[in-house]
Amino acid sequence: MTFQRACGLSELEEDTPKRVELDGTPVSLVHTGGEVFAINDICSHANVSLSEGEVDDCHIECWLHGSRFDLRSGKPDSLPATRPVPVYPVKIEGDDVLVSVTQES
Ligand code: FES
Repeated sequence: MTFQRACGLSELEEDTPKRVELDGTPVSLVHTGGEVFAINDICSHANVSLSEGEVDDCHIECWLHGSRFDLRSGKPDSLPATRPVPVYPVKIEGDDVLVSVTQES
């Protein structure tokens, strides 16, 4: 598993997703509840950026049709999306947020 720097921890505002691209993979970084999560930025229902959605209770909500994805598992808990979105392991080292997109968790 290879971790790479995604951004600085101080660049992440609480509950405000930040889109980054790692090895060509669009990733939404979310700092919420004292933890940082990395979830693929593309909704599994259609080609829409999840980082433009709202964060609430460890979920990110797709702005287009409202499916909510668990930031821990990537699983949707409401329709119309039925397939999970990949999530990625995150490590914090100092102010660096490190993400591995080589292996989904
Ligand atoms: S595009 Fe995300 S729920 Fe439809």
